[in-house]
Amino acid sequence: MIVTTAQLFKHAYGKYAIGAYNINNAEQAMGLFKGAMDSKAPFIIQISKGARNYTDKRMLEAIIRSAAEIFPDAIFAVHLDHGDEQTCYDCIDSGFFSSVMIDASHDEFEKNIEITKRVVEKAHAKGISVEAELGMLGGVEEDIKVEDGHATLTDPAEAEEFIKRTGCDSLACAIGTSHGAFKFKGKQSLHFDVLEKIKARVPGFPLVMHGSSSVPKDEVDRINAAGGKIADSSGVNVEEYLPAAKLGVTKINIDTDGRLVWTRVHREFFRDKPGEFDFRPPGKIFIVEYAKFIASRNVLLGSAGQLDDLRASLGK
Ligand code: G3H
Ligand code: 13P
Ligand code: ZN
Repeated sequence: MIVTTAQLFKHAYGKYAIGAYNINNAEQAMGLFKGAMDSKAPFIIQISKGARNYTDKRMLEAIIRSAAEIFPDAIFAVHLDHGDEQTCYDCIDSGFFSSVMIDASHDEFEKNIEITKRVVEKAHAKGISVEAELGMLGGVEEDIKVEDGHATLTDPAEAEEFIKRTGCDSLACAIGTSHGAFKFKGKQSLHFDVLEKIKARVPGFPLVMHGSSSVPKDEVDRINAAGGKIADSSGVNVEEYLPAAKLGVTKINIDTDGRLVWTRVHREFFRDKPGEFDFRPPGKIFIVEYAKFIASRNVLLGSAGQLDDLRASLGK
């Protein structure tokens, strides 16, 4: 069943976070739905602009529709990840997305407000929720790269003003993470101080944490042992997911970790079976491994085991 992110956030706020996982193909969709069902967790499927262009945007929508039939007990939202204004309108008009993210965080404060307001107006007219972003994460977002020194944490006072003036439904805040596999130099933690200040100004308002992959060391070691060359990688400490959730983070975005699972499975498979050229055997292993990964993350996010209670609260 497709629901809005607003419905998911209402149930989760202050208690646990919903995992928001990016998908690009059928194998990821199968693993995601299977992992969510195994852990009895609601979830958010995220589709980026790059994912929509990978095969064809209609292909991904059809895959998700089919997955919903294969797993009729699943409760999830379909969300556009890091949309520009035009892509938001395209997704709002598609009638398939239950929420969109307008990412105008690289624009000036006033311009970000102006663009976000326009998207909120169009989305709300169709019952669709809007995530906006304020502050700048490091790393690569779609085709925009933010150099380390230019990443800026979200200003709590600006966050309050931004939310009031735009009417957005959730806000992605920069609290020290970045996209990709190379998040921190040395040992760093999330900026819980900033999060606390934002929560104090907008109590009850759902916050979003991008760049939340944990980049597991054993995963990277296995990739490198099978011929990969990933050096100096680092990710978010998974023990910080739940404390962040208690401070109002209701959506935690994880994409890179799934790519690492894919890379490990395929590198090891073809290393061990150099004569193999059927892609289905490793694809099947990936689905199982990705499902296990999703279930393990849902446990850490606190969303595991919430499905029945959520269903009852939705009256379904
Ligand atoms: O934040 C970006 C997400 O990881 C999606 O990545 O634009 O390469 O699909 P992508
Ligand atoms: P990661 O690169 O840490 O997986 O972040 C994904 C993300 O924020 C998608 O919007
Ligand atoms: Zn992101």
